[in-house]
Amino acid sequence: MQFDFHSTRSVLVERGGAAHLAKRIQERGGKSALIITDPGVLSAGLLNQSLPQFKELGIVLGIFSDVQADPPISVIDGAVKAAQECRADFIVGFGGGSSMDVAKLVALLASGKERLSEVYGVGMAKGPRLPLILVPTTAGTGSEVTTISIVTVSESEKKGVVSPQLLPDVALLDAELTLGLPAHVTAATGIDAMVHAIEAFTTRRLKNPVSDCLAKEALRLLAGNLHQAVQVGGDIVARENMLLGACLAGMAFTNAPVAGVHALAYPIGARFHVPHGLSNSLMLAPVMRFNLEIAHSMYAELGKIIKPGLGGSSVEQAKQLVQYLGGLAGELGLPERLADVGIVSTDIDQLASDAMLQTRLLINSPREITLNDAAVLYREAL
Ligand SMILES: NC(=O)c1ccc[n+]([C@@H]2O[C@H](COP(=O)([O-])OP(=O)(O)OC[C@H]3O[C@@H](n4cnc5c(N)ncnc54)[C@H](O)[C@@H]3O)[C@@H](O)[C@H]2O)c1
Ligand SMILES: [Fe+2]
Repeated sequence: MQFDFHSTRSVLVERGGAAHLAKRIQERGGKSALIITDPGVLSAGLLNQSLPQFKELGIVLGIFSDVQADPPISVIDGAVKAAQECRADFIVGFGGGSSMDVAKLVALLASGKERLSEVYGVGMAKGPRLPLILVPTTAGTGSEVTTISIVTVSESEKKGVVSPQLLPDVALLDAELTLGLPAHVTAATGIDAMVHAIEAFTTRRLKNPVSDCLAKEALRLLAGNLHQAVQVGGDIVARENMLLGACLAGMAFTNAPVAGVHALAYPIGARFHVPHGLSNSLMLAPVMRFNLEIAHSMYAELGKIIKPGLGGSSVEQAKQLVQYLGGLAGELGLPERLADVGIVSTDIDQLASDAMLQTRLLINSPREITLNDAAVLYREAL
């Protein structure tokens, strides 16, 4: 056995912990911080608990709140400029995956020693970076514990920067921040996290006993709390379990990388501006059915976590898992078909060829996905 496991050094789980963000920065020597967030997080008042302590402790604070979902290069450039202008010595990513991913890149690029165009791909970003705290406000991407940042580089392509340098110093998990997350965002981001756990557990490369353990516990927490978090958004226990589940799934997939569902989801997000979690949800069941002949025993193992009473052969158990997951979007009020998000059959060839660009993800698929397979899978999801 041989593996190398990376994770965020410090994961703080604390209800109401966002109120002490400034103290966490001060403890680590920060004197001038830039918080990176988006307009939705700002207008939901999620920073309100955190701001007073910056004043009390005399930490100079800048706020960059222009992050857009699936951040394009221009947003990263703007945030880097903001960090340079306010001479930030500490970066905070406060929001969903989009805000956290931008913050990770800003911490890396603010010194001006590396350029975004040179760090795409695996291991290209060398660092050092500015000190970094990530505070997730969705229970989805797990970006607070991943070595990855995703950038939308064109209308058809998302690229990843992957480097241990992007792991923050601290991930701060305060479930109170997620209490007001709208139901459809809770559902889509929660399914994204489940996909992370499933794809990490079934990945062809770099799967190991630690990532397996994390993926299984993540799936248990996520599947056990998703409906409640969507239906009763104010249930702090369900919210906390979702936040922890998403974090554990992030720890799993940053070491045992995601595959076909994400590869086929990214073109949907890039071309049709469908939120990341929803794009994944739309492709999940078709890709799992495609993998079933190879991955059925692993799917059966996961199926038993969600439904302990599952019986029959491993193929039958795997099919029941796929059926359960295929029904989730409808149960949670999300669109179920590509047609529901405006995709038509003449879009499919383009989507399939876009998906083939996701070589970083496709190499992890338990079953090889060709251009023709991708088109068949999109057609099945239509
Ligand atoms: N770095 C990684 O490891 C990784 C993994 C998966 C996905 N991603 C990337 O993350 C991005 C998606 O992130 P996301 O799904 O978290 O969504 P997001 O960050 O784009 O946020 C979605 C929406 O939810 C709102 N929102 C967030 N928290 C809220 C709260 N608590 N209350 C009310 N509204 C809130 C935001 O304002 C925004 O409008 C994509 O760019 C995707 O490619 C990154
Ligand atoms: Fe994802």
